[in-house]
Amino acid sequence: MAKILVCIAWPYASGPRHLGHAAATFIPADVFARYHRMKGDEVLVVGGTDMHGTPTTVRADEEGVPPNVVAERFHALHAKNIEDLGVRYDLYWNTADPHHKQWCQEILLGLRDKGHVYEATMVSPFCTTDGRFLPDRYVEGTCPNCGFDRARGDQCDSCGHLWDPFELKEPKCRIHGTPPVPRETNHLFFRLSAFQERLRTWLASGKDHWRHHVLTFANSWIREGLKDRPVTRDLDWGIEVPLPGFASKRIYVWFEAVMGYLTATREWYLRAGKPEGWRDFWYDPAARQYYFIGKDNIVFHTIIWPAILLGSDDRLVLPHDVPATQYLNISGEKMSAGRGEGVWLPDLLARFDPDQIRYYAIATAPETKDSEFGWEDFAQRNNSELLAVYGNFAHRALTFADRNFAHAIPEAGFLDAADKAMVRAVEEQWGKVGRNLEFVHEKDALREAIQLARLGNQYFDQKAPWDLLRKDRVACGTAIHVALRVVKALTLTLAPFLPFSSARLWHALGYDSDVHGQRWEEAVEDVPEGQPLRVGKPPFAKIELAPKPATGPADRFDVRVARIVDVADHPNADKLYVLQVDLGVERRQIVAGIREHYPPEALRGRKIALLVNLQPAKLRGVESNGMLLAGEDESTVGLVNVPEDAPVGEQVLGTRGAAELPFSEFQTYKLQVAEGGVVQFLGKAGETKVSLQVKGVGLTVDKGLPTGTWVH
Ligand code: MF3
Ligand code: ZN
Repeated sequence: MAKILVCIAWPYASGPRHLGHAAATFIPADVFARYHRMKGDEVLVVGGTDMHGTPTTVRADEEGVPPNVVAERFHALHAKNIEDLGVRYDLYWNTADPHHKQWCQEILLGLRDKGHVYEATMVSPFCTTDGRFLPDRYVEGTCPNCGFDRARGDQCDSCGHLWDPFELKEPKCRIHGTPPVPRETNHLFFRLSAFQERLRTWLASGKDHWRHHVLTFANSWIREGLKDRPVTRDLDWGIEVPLPGFASKRIYVWFEAVMGYLTATREWYLRAGKPEGWRDFWYDPAARQYYFIGKDNIVFHTIIWPAILLGSDDRLVLPHDVPATQYLNISGEKMSAGRGEGVWLPDLLARFDPDQIRYYAIATAPETKDSEFGWEDFAQRNNSELLAVYGNFAHRALTFADRNFAHAIPEAGFLDAADKAMVRAVEEQWGKVGRNLEFVHEKDALREAIQLARLGNQYFDQKAPWDLLRKDRVACGTAIHVALRVVKALTLTLAPFLPFSSARLWHALGYDSDVHGQRWEEAVEDVPEGQPLRVGKPPFAKIELAPKPATGPADRFDVRVARIVDVADHPNADKLYVLQVDLGVERRQIVAGIREHYPPEALRGRKIALLVNLQPAKLRGVESNGMLLAGEDESTVGLVNVPEDAPVGEQVLGTRGAAELPFSEFQTYKLQVAEGGVVQFLGKAGETKVSLQVKGVGLTVDKGLPTGTWVH
């Protein structure tokens, strides 16, 4: 019996998570943990919500609420989404827990006592506009590595490279858009450089089972030479630094979050009444730790966390494997919660069976190279594999037995060569699934399981039980018995991947026990003759994507309700504001020429109609990703009025997801205040009339601008 600690990356409490996140962390971790539990291994699954740091404070600033409100809201959302996905943690915790804080502070002080953490002065970006330091995500600039123009002060979201803020090209304050100035500040530093040799040796031995890209990435850090890193920040949200002079500083979110794997294990054992029990997983060299993370987390789990462990206590074991994924892209771009692009878990869970989401997440998982999400692909893989191959096979074997063999599993009788070959194929495929799972090759494992269903279908067709029933009822019984044996094998082999449908099929096969309490080896054992069946509906529903809306006159437009969360003066233009706007699933920066017409107080919190698919542009050096709609005559500008209770993100005009609209094309269309005051889209030359509306109510313009006023 092996000891397996399953560690799942802690999702930030800064917004909903997307499918890419689930496909990198929760889902593969859960498959792995369920498999090992079936094998009889001692498994502990730990993790929780990453509550601290600038991802949370940036959102809280935008919403105008304290960070703990945002953190608690998303902690609850993550916990619910995880449960709905069927992902089972032994402890789904969060980093705001007092025990986590206390144990992290102890680790920090322990490292300091050993000389691995020291105090030093560094230069940090400081915003002179509101007189504060700009930690991490409060700085944005261009990534020197990949050229992405919204890289953050600590990390590029596009290529995953870590940065110091001043290494970015043209660093800017995220809120004001102005360049920060360098200013000295005191911080604690982790002496990462001291672990160079030990980490090099560790990474050089016994890592053959690691994914190539993970090892390459970790080794590139070693090759570049490890540098000491600041592990505190000028911030008031996070874990306090238990040292004099650090009252206005907090422990860097990454430094404490990775410790969560250890602190959560301690917490689990504490609650179980065995406060020292955590040592089972952390001191026993035979215990194996697996870290399920995304690509942008690799350095923290293969370099920094192992260094913290090495520096803290010689007895601590290092990660056994870090099966990080690459990126799941959506139309060529990485799904990113930080940038607002993604296929969101709450939406997916509201629309689909969790097993459909899990199936797709593993079947398309970017295990070794980036993969691409597409709705058509999502529907297609579910319909043509999960449903057409596995679901159909299981359902037709079950219904055939139910109708023709008195609602029970027929007798096995005498197995001919084809029957025996089918039974052998069960053992072979089951063996392949297990061997792949041992090495966290879940995509291959799933493919081999589906291959077994495919073989089952071929066997069924070859046996043609509908003919055999008349010719040789006993032989037909044998074929159905064997087919149900394959269904049972699939139900158990797929139980780690598809926990919900496996439970349904297990029940349909007539078992009263919990499918998730079965042994892995049970999959290759025979089904009991005469066991009564409980055949229900087919195990999977077909995914029917809503047909693409018929093309309408305003289809080139995507206008939605947005809310202004922040207003700043444009640094180089008197008439322009730089606005941060919230669209519900994402937030953006736009530049708007309304500074002479509205004071900032009149804009903060106000809802607007935003053209979201306008081609991004730089206006006097500041990026603008959309345009607010307003009426304008020679002297007055009046925003399109949006009712206060209109939901953010609601469609106002056109089609959600419409392709990018170049400004030159935009100018060829007309929008105007119509008779009655409602704004209308008129096409290119008045050939159509579509009112801007929210939930059926037409939108007007501000400041009483009269009928005939142009809107743009
Ligand atoms: N919150 C981080 C992210 O979403 C992951 C933290 S994992 C931990 O990228 F190890 F630091 F906890
Ligand atoms: Zn980059």
